[in-house]
Amino acid sequence: MSFNNFSLIVAPNYHDLSKKAANFVYSKWQKKYPKKFVLGLATGRTQVGFRQEFIKLVKLKRPRLANLYLTNLDEYWPLKKNHPNSYFQEMKQNFWDPLKKLNLGFSEKHTFIPNCQAKNPYQEAERFEKLLKKNGGIDLQVLGIGIEGHIGFNEKGSAKNSRTRLIVLDESTREANKNQFSGGKEEVPAHAITLGIANILEAREVLLLANGKKKKAIIKKLIKAGPDKNLPASFLKLHKKVTVMIDKEAYQ
Ligand code: F6R
Repeated sequence: MSFNNFSLIVAPNYHDLSKKAANFVYSKWQKKYPKKFVLGLATGRTQVGFRQEFIKLVKLKRPRLANLYLTNLDEYWPLKKNHPNSYFQEMKQNFWDPLKKLNLGFSEKHTFIPNCQAKNPYQEAERFEKLLKKNGGIDLQVLGIGIEGHIGFNEKGSAKNSRTRLIVLDESTREANKNQFSGGKEEVPAHAITLGIANILEAREVLLLANGKKKKAIIKKLIKAGPDKNLPASFLKLHKKVTVMIDKEAYQ
């Protein structure tokens, strides 16, 4: 199915969605082999299955991982790197370490995520922006979507030309993510460092994932919407190569 520039894939359930996403990413990466492939990643519940299925695929096919570069698009700020809910920890425990363990040439030097302990978040945003540029930009950016339509942590009101920056998290985002923090919403940092809409639009390809009833309303809006600040994900309508992969529960 195609909506404007979006290719829409509806999977029967979350498990199938995760497998499809893993296969999609795997084949894009392999097509570029042995050239460097910069994969942009997101965090959050939606991404868990996809990452697990991707690791399974790698275990099965045993490709060389040396050309795989992983970059995350956002991180809470401030937070200790070893805080159980930093995205740094989420990535280290659930993706980087398992990939490293496979002994297929994966290098932690090829992992990039904004530094949640940076003293100066503005300088950190600049550093991250430069780092991406130095690495040739993002080949494929995988995204999730917030119930209010954010991508990365580009909350409502984010401009089309926004770049990597410190952002104040919406109350709805802190509410949605509170269950991951033992102390509830008050423990969720009030800020994050995120790639901007312009950075996401510069990725050569985008894959947006969504699952479950909770995402149904926002996906419906997204499919209809034109580019609109009040629905940051709708700026993806300006990108030439976007695949939206969702499960049945998130559809219509
Ligand atoms: C986090 C990120 C966010 C999430 C979104 C959905 O790195 O980029 O945009 O993708 O908040 O989160 P889940 O998947 O937990 O519903």
